[in-house]
Amino acid sequence: MVQCHSRSCGRSPARVLDQRAGGPEDSAAPSHAADRHSPRRCVLSPVNVALLGAGVVGAGTLDLLLSKRAQLAAMNGVEIVPRHVLVRDPARRRPVTIPPEALTTDPARIFSDPDLHVVVELMGGEEPARTYIEAALSAGRHVVTANKEVIAKHGGELLRLANRKGVDLSFEASVGGGIPIIDTLRKDLIANDITAVRAIINGTSNFILTAMSAGREYAEALRQAQELGYAEADPRNDVEGIDALYKLSILSTLAFRADVRPTDLTALGITGLSARDFQYGAEMGYEIKLIAWARRDGSQIEGAVYPLMISRDSQLAAVKGVFNAVLLEGDQIDQLMLYGRGAGAKPTASAVVADLCRIAQNIRRGASDHIHINERALSIRPFSKMLARFYLRLSVVDRPGVLAQIAQILGAHQISISSVIQRETDETSRVAELVIMTHAALEGQMAHAIDAIRSLGPPLRPARVVAITGSGGVGKSTLIGKLIESLRRQGRTVAVLACDPESPLTGGALLGDRFRMGTVVDDGVYIRSLAACSGRQAIADHLGGVIRLCEEFGFDVVIVETVGAGQGDTAIRAWADLVVLLLQPETGDDLQWEKAGVLEVADLIVIHKADLPGAERVAQQVRSAMELSSGSKVPVVLASSRTGLGIDELARLLQTLPSAIRRGDEIGAFLDEARRELDRLLREPDAPQILALWRTGRIDIQEALRRLLDSRPSRPEEEPTGARSESVI
Ligand SMILES: NC(=O)c1ccc[n+]([C@@H]2O[C@H](COP(=O)([O-])OP(=O)(O)OC[C@H]3O[C@@H](n4cnc5c(N)ncnc54)[C@H](OP(=O)(O)O)[C@@H]3O)[C@@H](O)[C@H]2O)c1
Repeated sequence: MVQCHSRSCGRSPARVLDQRAGGPEDSAAPSHAADRHSPRRCVLSPVNVALLGAGVVGAGTLDLLLSKRAQLAAMNGVEIVPRHVLVRDPARRRPVTIPPEALTTDPARIFSDPDLHVVVELMGGEEPARTYIEAALSAGRHVVTANKEVIAKHGGELLRLANRKGVDLSFEASVGGGIPIIDTLRKDLIANDITAVRAIINGTSNFILTAMSAGREYAEALRQAQELGYAEADPRNDVEGIDALYKLSILSTLAFRADVRPTDLTALGITGLSARDFQYGAEMGYEIKLIAWARRDGSQIEGAVYPLMISRDSQLAAVKGVFNAVLLEGDQIDQLMLYGRGAGAKPTASAVVADLCRIAQNIRRGASDHIHINERALSIRPFSKMLARFYLRLSVVDRPGVLAQIAQILGAHQISISSVIQRETDETSRVAELVIMTHAALEGQMAHAIDAIRSLGPPLRPARVVAITGSGGVGKSTLIGKLIESLRRQGRTVAVLACDPESPLTGGALLGDRFRMGTVVDDGVYIRSLAACSGRQAIADHLGGVIRLCEEFGFDVVIVETVGAGQGDTAIRAWADLVVLLLQPETGDDLQWEKAGVLEVADLIVIHKADLPGAERVAQQVRSAMELSSGSKVPVVLASSRTGLGIDELARLLQTLPSAIRRGDEIGAFLDEARRELDRLLREPDAPQILALWRTGRIDIQEALRRLLDSRPSRPEEEPTGARSESVI
């Protein structure tokens, strides 16, 4: 390996001359000719190299230099000789054989070598890498590095030092691994004014996002990336966007010819994403990618790294797995995309060796590459002043007013909503998922709006609200008492709201809240009677508020006992997840319940007192009546408070049956939407007056609704949609 270091070439590039040809302008042809005859013959004094680091990239670089030694010498007209290899642990097994005389743990040995030409820093991290690079440049050595952190943070001063010393500082491998983006920006696009850079430049996060797009959750995708060696044990630099931020700072500095520091840019990572975001994205025609982007807007530069929804048809959306891509926009080229492997021993070594070859050729020609940065006085636009469209996914309690509350917060921050999707997360739960897409808004305003939405608190754990209805004497209170016992045995807390003034649960006292039944009462049980004051319906006016209070106190199940089976009881449908109708054998008029109109709102029918004769017959009658009238398959359960028959089963069904209102059927969805709209209308200033007219009978409900609708203010003009089709998460 160290065969060709017989002659010192000195430290100055101008002194590296072909001993045979004798001039810096010597062409490569004689070397090629010499090499063809004797591939191992060194026609020029070799370029001596010290590798700082022999890890993934260092070992890959060494392997490439050794395996393609003759080819590289022929192409460059000079041999590149690895002379020193600095490591921490010389005993460590490596994929390439390093001659013992080259291996060292002593940096002084390298820096004191007078015959050294190039230092190749492949250690990583900020220190001592920066110090070594600075020392090498100060001593007139050329430097090649793959270290994005050092170049991003200190590139400006190190390049100025290299320029002063007349040596090269090359860093092709610091961005995009094997993609030749640095030299493209520095040289090939020199005649362009680059206006925008968009890149996928972190293979680890792109691998994770690709897996999540296929349905995996973040943790599972990260584990897979770690198993395959794509993610480190501590993946923060990659998944929090820091690695991409360093690379973006380098790309922006070169693209816009202005010093763009990592502190000028903002990085938001991918750790908060869920597979559901990818599902929503797919429904709307988007992929989610961690995009590093920067653009020049007049005299300002703006840039950030964050997960972006990009159109599925875009070129960047097609970049999968560990692959990287950089898309440039320039006044001459229009668009240019470079695509390839952004990491790994071979692609990165390819970039490192390319830098080494350019330096070797410069040495041979007595030239050096000067990089001019900071040519332009461009200012950096603060992140808070950047515009984007946003995608928000929120878990909210599915109740009237929540969407209005969120819309109000967004509106107060000048953020206008472009679309809303609402989904249930679970049929039996009352937590809904709200997906909001906004028009273009300022990052700063969105950050404040999110703080305000978060201050609303975590979504309330929703209670299961069960209405129990049935005519007088059917045994509602007795059954509720038994259900309380069963639910408590199952560890559930129960609140009972009795709208029935006759209820023995409340002792018959209209507003009493004492429990007078022979059942267990403990801290997990709350019983309260509610007056139905409007007289227009069988439930109390303030029932919704009291149910919400019970949820605030964390009750698992809220049972609402209604006045009795009748037309008015259908109003309970708006508040309950489940309406349970109680019937009993030998009701006299078998069809009385059908006439009462409650069958259509019942989600579960209980034949109570099923220990009496005829229970099964009534159950059969109900089943056939339901099937005949509506084809419905509402469950019919036999239960007896006296014998305990069916009570535990009933308690279980109350918790597990799908919520009727949230079944997703058209009527349920319509009712939900109507409730939300009504809630909005009731917040209008004219609403109290209209309600007062209705309450005193001066207008009917249709007229009240019409007036409420008329009282809406006209909607503000839509804001123009931003030119970008992506939305920030
Ligand atoms: N890995 C990639 O695919 C990739 C792609 C593009 C750019 N890069 C960049 O390339 C550089 C190297 O990455 P890598 O993945 O090759 O790292 P690595 O596998 O961790 O190797 C680091 C090497 O540096 C040596 N080293 C570290 N600190 C040292 C110290 N203080 N003194 C002496 N030797 C020291 C280590 O010695 P021991 O072996 O004795 O521990 C090891 O050989 C980093 O800047 C990285 O960002 C890497």
